[in-house]
Amino acid sequence: MITRFSTALEPDLLAAFDRFIKRHGYRNRSEAVRDLIRKNLVDEEWRSARGSVVGVISLVYAHRQHSLQDRLTDLQHTAHDLIISTTHIHLDRANCLEVIMVRGPAVRVKALADSLITLRGVRHGGLTIAAGRASK
Ligand code: NI
Repeated sequence: MITRFSTALEPDLLAAFDRFIKRHGYRNRSEAVRDLIRKNLVDEEWRSARGSVVGVISLVYAHRQHSLQDRLTDLQHTAHDLIISTTHIHLDRANCLEVIMVRGPAVRVKALADSLITLRGVRHGGLTIAAGRASK
């Protein structure tokens, strides 16, 4: 069953939302709203979970960036108990891709991912949670 509700938005925000819908290939606003709500609810659930998650942190960075490699390694050693495995791929002459498989309390995994992704010189970074188990 589907329930309809109406929402009030400023014209600018609605225009931006319509561009978002177009970019992401949603068929209509309802579909996009449903997807965004679901994503946010799932996200909130695992972020607040005290239980364990399994995930992958991916980082793309230029390996010549001053001291970046050392900082990445330091942070990973500080959280060594969360890290299952790390794979380093030399993408091209300048860039590296590092894929870090992690398992542990959601809040710590998130904190580790944030600290790595926000390092200066990291061009792209992301955390994908593959599985979560909330223990409430
Ligand atoms: Ni490399």
